[in-house]
Amino acid sequence: MKKLCEDVSNAVQDAIGNIIGKLESGAILYMGADGTPTTKIDDVAEGAAIRVLKEDGRPLNIISEEIGSMTLGEGAELTIVLDPLDGTYNAIHGIPFYSFSMAICENDLSKVYYGYVRDLVTGDVYLAEKDRGAFLNGSEIHVSNKKRGYCVSANDQISLDKNCKIRLLGSIALELCYVASHKLDAVIDNRNLLRVTDISAGKLIVEEAGGIVTDLVDEPLKLPLDVKQKLNIIASNGRIHDELIYKLR
Ligand code: IPD
Ligand code: CA
Repeated sequence: MKKLCEDVSNAVQDAIGNIIGKLESGAILYMGADGTPTTKIDDVAEGAAIRVLKEDGRPLNIISEEIGSMTLGEGAELTIVLDPLDGTYNAIHGIPFYSFSMAICENDLSKVYYGYVRDLVTGDVYLAEKDRGAFLNGSEIHVSNKKRGYCVSANDQISLDKNCKIRLLGSIALELCYVASHKLDAVIDNRNLLRVTDISAGKLIVEEAGGIVTDLVDEPLKLPLDVKQKLNIIASNGRIHDELIYKLR
C-alpha cells in the first residue's frame, strides 16, 4: 500500500512541479464531478495519478475529485479515495501549503485500511494503517493533550473565545495531519463544503494518532461514495471535542 501511495504521489509531484505558483495553472478547464471547476493544475495532477494506478495493473475502484468515480479492471475489492492536489488555491498562488491525499478502503468505504498524506512542499509523509498507529516520516505521532489555550483551524463562520488561537491554512488533508502530529489541537469546518476525497486519509491519520473525528453533532462521520455529497467536520485531540461541540451550539 505504501509503495503504491509513494508511486502515485511522486508522479503527481513531478507533473505539477513546473506549474506551481503560476497563475495560468489556475485556468478553468471544465466542471469537475464534485460540482466545482477543475483547473489546469488539478487536471494535470489527477491525470498523473490515474496513469500510475492504471500502470499498477490491479483491479481498483477509484473515487477522485475531478473524475468522480472510475473502475479499473474487473472484480476490484478495494477503493482508492484520492485527492491528487488538496489546496489548489495555495498551489496556484505559490502559497506553500498544499498536499496529496490517498486512502485505501473497502468498496463501501465502511473501513479505511490505509491513509497517506504527503506535504507537497516539504515532502513530509503522514500515514496510518488501521489499528497500527499513525506516523510522520516513519516516527509514530500522537495528538496533543491540551485542554486549554488550544489552537484550532476553523473557517470564518466560526467564532471561538479569545483564549483560542485560530489558524486557517487551506489544505484540510494536511491540517488533519497537523492535528494528528499535535501542531494543531483541532480542525472545524462547518461550511458543508468538504468532500470525501478531502478527508478520508486525514480522518484515519487523526484517529490512529488518538484523536476523534465526528460531524458537528458528535455523530460518527460516514464517508459517502460520492464526491458531490458535502460534509462538515470536527477533528480534535479528543480532550476538547465536547467543549468545541458545545461552543458551536
Ligand atoms: C480545498 C481544501 C481547503 C478547503 C476547501 C477545499 P481543494 O480542497 O481542502 O482546505 O477549505 O473547502 O475545497 O479544492 O484544494 O482540493
Ligand atoms: Ca483537489
